[in-house]
Amino acid sequence: MRPVLESYSQESNPDFENIMVLRTVAIEGAFLKPHIKSCMNVLDVGCGPGSITLGLAEIVSPGEAIGIDLRPSQVEKAETLRSVRGIKNARSVSV
Ligand SMILES: C[S@@+](CC[C@H](N)C(=O)[O-])C[C@H]1O[C@@H](n2cnc3c(N)ncnc32)[C@H](O)[C@@H]1O
Repeated sequence: MRPVLESYSQESNPDFENIMVLRTVAIEGAFLKPHIKSCMNVLDVGCGPGSITLGLAEIVSPGEAIGIDLRPSQVEKAETLRSVRGIKNARSVSV
């Protein structure tokens, strides 16, 4: 049996990606926020451009938020956003 290579259906949709970067823990992550506390370490699977990962990092500090994503282009965006915001306890990696 051949392995199945995963893909992502919105991969070539810039409009969708422009919306993704505006998402926040306060709004889209509201269901999760009450369960996230300072000093936790969180893994954000499918972090995309990282806006939610960075919001999680602010809550869990001095714990860490790690974002992972299938697409290196998203990880690059997440790392750029992290650098612009000067957040030290987050990072994103591609898987
Ligand atoms: C809709 S975006 C969501 C981004 C962010 N989590 C948010 O809620 O704003 C979904 C992301 O998950 C990633 N993704 C999809 N399947 C994945 C998988 N199996 N492992 C890691 N990342 C995955 C995609 O590349 C895409 O960047």
